[in-house]
Amino acid sequence: MEYKTPTQSRTILTDMVLPSETNPLNNLFGGELLARMDRAASIAARRHSRKITVTASVNHVAFNRSIPLGSVVTVEAKVSRAFKTSMEVFLDVWIEDRESGEREKANEAIYTFVAVDESGKPVKIPAINPETDLEKERYEGALRRKQLSLVLAGKMNPNDATELKALFQ
Ligand SMILES: CC(C)(COP(=O)(O)OP(=O)(O)OC[C@H]1O[C@@H](n2cnc3c(N)ncnc32)[C@H](O)[C@@H]1OP(=O)(O)O)[C@@H](O)C(=O)NCCC(=O)NCCS
Repeated sequence: MEYKTPTQSRTILTDMVLPSETNPLNNLFGGELLARMDRAASIAARRHSRKITVTASVNHVAFNRSIPLGSVVTVEAKVSRAFKTSMEVFLDVWIEDRESGEREKANEAIYTFVAVDESGKPVKIPAINPETDLEKERYEGALRRKQLSLVLAGKMNPNDATELKALFQ
């Protein structure tokens, strides 16, 4: 079986927050951040699979911090686990202090992408070999997040979600 590391899919998008992208409080509009994250995650999924990839679900988004107008925002995406045809992409969002240049974590999200052929049919992808402690932690949790996403989408019977059920036992 072919393996790749999360680093091989690492994708970084850095851009400013412009006035047209803000809400009435002059902070970044949530939908704009979702679009940026979707783009970064899509590139990471493509780098991992070297196939056409489509967004299957947005599993989790935490808007922990608002991001003010003029901020420099960096979205970092990496494939955290690959299954047969689908993969989980973890996103970390950072903002940069104008004076010190230091980065502060603002938000995070988890997307699921599926690799497909020209007709949209799911195709097999390489597995993931996590290296760092954080990559291993995200890899470990990915199966229960996949099961939760499938249960919520009505694509899996909760009784079959063994990994997810184990959390509550
Ligand atoms: C995503 C898509 C290809 C899945 O098709 P499908 O008929 O459900 O295919 P399958 O049942 O074979 O599922 C394929 C994989 O996706 C996973 N999957 C499907 N829906 C999922 C969901 N909601 N959450 C997590 N994983 C999901 C399946 O578990 C399977 O994973 P695996 O092969 O790694 O085990 C199909 O629904 C699609 O094309 N959707 C539209 C995508 C799109 O246009 N996105 C942009 C929206 S604007």
